[in-house]
Amino acid sequence: MTSPPEAFAKACDRARSDGHQVGLVPTMGALHAGHVSLLERARGECGFLTVSIFVNALQFSSPDDLAAYPRTFERDRDVAVANGCDLLFAPSDQEMYPEGRPEVTVDPGPLGDRLEGASRREHFRGVLTVVAKLFNLAGPCRAYFGEKDAQQLVLVRRMVADLNAPVVVVACPTVREPDGLAMSSRNARLSLEERLAAPVLFDALSEAAGLVRRGESRADVIRAAMARTIGAEPLATLDYVAMVDDETWEDLAEIAGPARALVAASLGGTRLIDNLAVPSVQNTRRAEERI
Ligand code: PAJ
Repeated sequence: MTSPPEAFAKACDRARSDGHQVGLVPTMGALHAGHVSLLERARGECGFLTVSIFVNALQFSSPDDLAAYPRTFERDRDVAVANGCDLLFAPSDQEMYPEGRPEVTVDPGPLGDRLEGASRREHFRGVLTVVAKLFNLAGPCRAYFGEKDAQQLVLVRRMVADLNAPVVVVACPTVREPDGLAMSSRNARLSLEERLAAPVLFDALSEAAGLVRRGESRADVIRAAMARTIGAEPLATLDYVAMVDDETWEDLAEIAGPARALVAASLGGTRLIDNLAVPSVQNTRRAEERI
C-alpha cells in the first residue's frame, strides 16, 4: 500500500500527465472565507485542485499554541469539496515526519529572524520546511498563498527563486470582516470584547495608508501614528509596527516607492497580525498621470 504522501505525489503526477495544471493550496485547516478565496482563485486557474491540511508542529514555538490550534477536519473536508477540491491531502504527523523532527531544514535567511521571526523563533524555518516538502510532493504546480501572511508569502517566493522550485507562487488579497478585521483561524479565540477591539490593527494600517496619501513620507512619523492607534485601545498590547520596502523588505526611513505597513498585537492571549500595501505619493501621482 502506498503512504498518503506517495499517493498524493502520484495523483498530482497523473493529473499532469492527463494535461491538467495542478493547483496547490497549503493550509493548516480551520478553513474560513480567506482560505476559500484561495481555493476559488486556484479553481479558476487550474484543472486539478489539491488542498493540504496539516497542522505543522515544526512552525509553532510554544506547545500550548500548538495544542490550542483549532482542528475541525470534518467541516474542512466539506468546505474544500464544496469549493472544487479534487484531492485533499491531510497527512498525520507520522506520515509527514516519519523520523520525528527533520535534521535537514530550510534556512529562511536574514528575513526569517525579523518581524514575525523575531517574535516566533524558528517559525519560518518550520514553515519553509513543510512548504518545501509539499512542493516536492506536488511537483510542478501553481501554489496559492494569502497576502494576510505577507512575510510568509515573500519568504516562500524567495525559497522558490533561490532553490529553483518548479512552482509558480500566486498571491491572493487579504479577505476581511466588514469591520476590517483580517479573517484568521485565531479570531475564534477572541472574547466578545476583544473581537470588538480587534479592528484596531486595520485602523492602524489604514492610518498609515492615509498619512502616506496625504504626503507624509517619514516612516518614523507613520510608525509612531500606528503605535499610538494601537496604544489607544486598552485591550491591545503592541508587539511591533513596521514600514518595509515592498520588494526588499528592508526597514524604511523614507517612503519613496511601494511600501508595506505591518502590525502585530495581542488581544488577551491571542496574537494577531495584519499588513497593508501603502502606495507612495509618487506612485499615486504616476498612476494619476497615466489616466
Ligand atoms: P494557514 O494559516 O491555514 O493559512 C493558509 C493560507 O491561507 C495562507 O497562505 C494564508 O496566508 C491564507 N490566509 C489566511 N487568512 C487569510 C485571509 N484573511 N485572506 C487571505 N488569505 C488568507 O499559513 C499557513 O496556514 C501555514 O503557515 C502553511 C503555509 C500552510 C504552512 O504550514
